[in-house]
Formats: sequence, C-alpha cells, structure tokens
Amino acid sequence: MTQSPGQGNALDNLLTESRTFPPSDEFAAQANAQPALYEEAKADREAFWAKQAERLHWDTKWDQVLDWSGAPFAKWFVGGKLNVAYNCVDRHVESGHGDQVAIHWEGEPGDSRAITYAELQREVSKAANALTSLGIGAEDRVAIYMPMVPEAIFAMLACARVGAMHSVVFGGFSAEALRTRIEDSACRLVITTDGQYRRGNPAPLKPAVDEAVAGAPSVEKVIVVKRTDTEVAWTDKDVWWHELVDSQSDQHTPEAFDSEHPLFILYTSGTTGKPKGILHTSGGYLTQASYTHNYVFDLKPDTDVYWCTADIGWVTGHSYIVYGPLSNRVTQVVYEGTPNTPHEGRHWEIVQKYGVSIYYTAPTLIRTFMKWGADIPAKYDLSSLRVLGSVGEPINPEAWIWYRENVGGGKAPIVDTWWQTETGAIMISPLPGVVSTKPGSAQRPLPGIGAKVVNDEGVEVEHGGGGYLVLDEPWPSMLRGIWGDEERYRDTYWSRFGEQGFYFAGDGAKYDADGDIWLLGRVDDVMNVSGHRISTTEVESALVSHPTVAEAAVVGASDDTTGQGIVAFVILRGGAGADAGGAEAIKALRDHVAKEIGPIAKPRQIMVVPELPKTRSGKIMRRLLRDVAENRTVGDVTTLADSSVMDLISAGLQSGKAED
Ligand code: WT7
Repeated sequence: MTQSPGQGNALDNLLTESRTFPPSDEFAAQANAQPALYEEAKADREAFWAKQAERLHWDTKWDQVLDWSGAPFAKWFVGGKLNVAYNCVDRHVESGHGDQVAIHWEGEPGDSRAITYAELQREVSKAANALTSLGIGAEDRVAIYMPMVPEAIFAMLACARVGAMHSVVFGGFSAEALRTRIEDSACRLVITTDGQYRRGNPAPLKPAVDEAVAGAPSVEKVIVVKRTDTEVAWTDKDVWWHELVDSQSDQHTPEAFDSEHPLFILYTSGTTGKPKGILHTSGGYLTQASYTHNYVFDLKPDTDVYWCTADIGWVTGHSYIVYGPLSNRVTQVVYEGTPNTPHEGRHWEIVQKYGVSIYYTAPTLIRTFMKWGADIPAKYDLSSLRVLGSVGEPINPEAWIWYRENVGGGKAPIVDTWWQTETGAIMISPLPGVVSTKPGSAQRPLPGIGAKVVNDEGVEVEHGGGGYLVLDEPWPSMLRGIWGDEERYRDTYWSRFGEQGFYFAGDGAKYDADGDIWLLGRVDDVMNVSGHRISTTEVESALVSHPTVAEAAVVGASDDTTGQGIVAFVILRGGAGADAGGAEAIKALRDHVAKEIGPIAKPRQIMVVPELPKTRSGKIMRRLLRDVAENRTVGDVTTLADSSVMDLISAGLQSGKAED
C-alpha cells in the first residue's frame, strides 16, 4: 500500500482507510444542518456570517461584517454592540425558559445540583455586582483558578457581564504556572476555591494561590469559594465568595460592549518558551461558538442533554461548555471529577442518569476507555446518545470504531472536530446528517471556513497528497493576537506562509482521494525515514488497529542508516493476554504495521509501557519519548500530568529491550 511521495508533497500519505458511514435518512431529515448550508456560505461568505451573527442579541447592529485591513488582526461585526453574558443567560429567561435546567452539575463525591436559567441569571448577576463592588470593570484581568464547580462558570460569565477579561488557569497547574500567567497579564483579582476533589479525595488548592499571589503584586483581592471545607491560611487580600457574593443584589443590568471588546485571555504552551496568552474578543467569537455548537452537535435545546467532558481550563471548556452551549440555551451536564472515580463506569453512569444525548470528549479518554474494556460501557443504558464528538488530537480509526460501537450503539454519528485555542471554535468537522463520516478524518472545513493542505511552497497539494494545514480566510472567532506580544503573533502564525496570507496551524495534514482532510499530528513531530516524511499519527493508528493495542506513541530517533528510525511505545488493551508483550507478539506488531502501511513505516523498536507521558490536557509529549529513544536525559517534565510516568517508562526499558 506504500505510495511514493507525490510531487511537491511535504508529507507522505501512507495509511488508507476506506470505511464510511452515511447518515441515516431519519437523522438527515431532522438535522439542523442541510447540504444547502455549504452552498449558501460559498455564494457570499460575509452575508453568511452576518446571518449567523443574527443568532445573537445585539444592542447595536454592526455596520461592517469584516474589516481585514489591519491583517493579521481581524475585526468582525464592526460597530456592533452586545453583552456576551446577556446572550448566554438573560435572553433565555426573557423568552420564557427560566425554569429550564441550564446545568446539571455532578460533583465527584456524588453530590449534585440542578441550576435553571433563572437561577443562573441570579447567580451571575450577584457575582457581577460583587466584581463591581471590588472596582473590577471593563478590560480588567481576572484570573480564575478553580475546579469544575458551578461558581467557575458564574465567575466567567460575571466577568463577561462587566466587560472584564477572564484568564482561566487550569486547576491542575502549579503555583509557579499560575504566577507567571497572573503576572503576564497583570491580573487584579483571582477567583479560586479552598480545595478540589480529585480521585476521591479533597486536595488543597488555595495554598498554590497564596504562593502565586505572594509573587504577583498586581493582585488586589482573592475570592475563595468553599468547596472542600479544608482549612486554609488567610491573608488580608482574601474574601469568601459566600460572604461577598451572596449578600449582593441578584439584579444587574448588563452593559453592551463593542463587538471587538476583549472577552478573555487563555494561555497555551508552545513547544518552547513561555506560554502564549491567546486573546479572544466578543461578537465574532460568540457568533462562531454558537453557530458551530448548533450545527456540529445538531443541538435541539428543548430535548437534548449535552455533555462536554473538558475542563474550563482549556479552550474546549470555554467554547463548548460556557459560551457556545449557553448561548444556544442548552441543558448540559457538568462533571467535577475524574472518569474512574469511584469506578471506571462513572461516565456511563452519568449518561444513564441524565439521559445524555450529545457527548463530546477527547481521543485520549476514548483510548483509555478501550484499555479498560468494552464490558464497562456495556453495563449501562446508553441508548439516549445520538451524537458523539471528539477533539484534541487525531482520533485513530480503531478508536473511532470502538467509540461508535461501544458508546454510540453502532449508529450515533461521530463528529471529529479540528480546531485550536487560537481558532476559538470548531473549523473542520463533518456536519452530522449531511456528511458521510470516515473513521479518523475531520473531513471538511465548516461552511464559512477556509482551510487547505499545502506544500512547502504554499501550493495546494493534490487529492492523495500530504503537507501543511493552513487557514486561508479570516474567521470570526480567530485570535486577535498574543497578549502583549505582537511580534510573536506574527512570527508564530503568519511568517511561514505570510506571502500567501495563510494562517499556519502547525499541523500536518493530507487529502484523501475524495478531497477530505485527515490531520496527521504536529509538524514538529513528523519523522523522516530514508527521505520519507512519515506522520506519527498514521503509524500510531496502524498500531492501534491491532487487537492487542489500546494506545501508541511513535517518535523518530536518529539512525545511522535511515536518518531516523521509528520507535514505538504501546499500551496494551485490557484482556490482551499475558503473551501480548512478548518477543513473538512484538514481532507480530511490527509486521502488522508493515502490512497496514508498508515496510518503510515498520518500527525499528517497540516498547510496551504502562502509561504514556501526556500534558494535562491529554496530548502525548513525544519530545520526552524522543529523549528516551535517543538515550538522552529526559528533558523538562513540568508540564506533564503525571511526572512519574517517565520513571516508569525508563524503568521498563532497563528491564528488557524489545528490539530485534
Ligand atoms: C491542536 C490544538 C481545540 C480544542 C482542544 C485542543 C490538535 C485538535 C484535533 C482533531 C487532529 C486535533 C491539533 C491542533 N487537534 N483537534 N480533531 N484532529 N488534531 O486545543 O490545545 O489549542 O490544541 O490540537 O494538533 O493544532 P489546543
């Protein structure tokens, strides 16, 4: 099946996947998206986006849809004014849906809370009044460092309501990570909790804030939500949420802000250097978050129960828990804890309890579920599920099929959604009910979005060819820069294909014979074996397609003969059997890859490991595995979710190299 590199291709297209799943007639007939949506967007892109912006309530209508004269800084819906929080909360109460549950909150220890839109309006209003009482207003920066408790969502919306910018920092990050982020954008306020539940136990959170704030003079106040009731040290900057917020009036009149008023900063780590503060603004961001959430998930606000398993510390939590869903009057589940607390069926138990109909998660979790075994979801009634989503990494075809069969009952369409912190909202995804899905492919840019696969020269590759993913048109929810660093913004995203005016996403991608897009991983991870540029994703997917493998990570390690040789790290599936890690089995795995992709992609070495090094958002850190594969001291592990993983892997290597 190996193909020679096509003329001018920057990446070889090796793996072929031919399964497709057309939508059922029944689903297609009721789908929010109809095929004409693509035509409509193509006919007049700006008119199309203007129509999508009408999904929102504007206090003042815009007079220009897009101003790209200041490229690469876009302005959308120029002259328009709106309040983002009003759009996510109040207008639903005003339209008679105050009694609809907005959030079914499920705490890790098993406590729960149903919050209606009317209640959400009161909570957000009180929190907004509290912010005002502290002198926090338009364009002030507020750091939110919290677990997944309802107050985290109230806090984000309260910031939006008063025009302050939130900077949510994932609750699993260290004091030092929090401090550098607070410092970079000079936050005046921090909102946190005393502690958080993690894997069944309360863990302190506030000590990290105390440490961070001690080194961050911009912070004037810290609001503390009581969650775990653990004892905390108290400073004169601290104030309890229940003392400050609960005594405020639950009436608050939202002010309309300019469409380009900043909404939030979210830090994302690059491969090197300090984290980038990605800046998003109001009107364009909310338009695209709302539009994509409606069409990609086929949301029916009166009947669906939606669940996105992300944390608000990531952009997925911003766009697909808070802004997109709430602007669409969703009823959603928000879960505080880890998926295996107190048992490995916790997610399915929650799906069954609330009748979840739309479930949006990450490939890393799907592969973890595979590892735990299909008998676990089989114990629960998952028949309410009708749309499944995936985001964060390429999803291997086998994991996709597993998800479809064991979670989606063999019929729920799967939307593989490609986007980034920088893009703000989904860019590439099949539309359920319209597009026949393909396991492992994000397929097409959404209506209104421009994306292409190009070669080193920026020329679009042919069908069947591989290269770099670029976005060739400005889009409403695009980042408006990196906080305080215009040069880094231009450099990172616009210098590579600057001449063509393309945004460079940093991902490798290919077109299949139908012109559908397949994401192939970060270009920094691409391997070069005997002059063939091979994507990590394709080799990993070939490994995961073997019945014994749940998860795989491959890296290129320097090799005297081939330039780089492929080194694979694999996690076996639950029930793979005792022999699955033996020399015979390893040889079979190498042969399997050769058969699936071609001899060129056969791993030089395969190691069975208990865990893979992942960032806290679940992405595999191949850089560290390269260190192991090249026998170097393992580099900076501070962004790992669990830093002991590298010790486990290194220890495993000492005890037996599975090489032949
Ligand atoms: C990077 C962005 C977008 C929210 C979560 C991640 C990878 C994301 C997919 C997908 C293949 C994907 C890309 C992208 N990625 N979704 N469906 N298929 N790769 O946000 O942390 O900003 O990461 O995640 O490499 O560039 P992020």
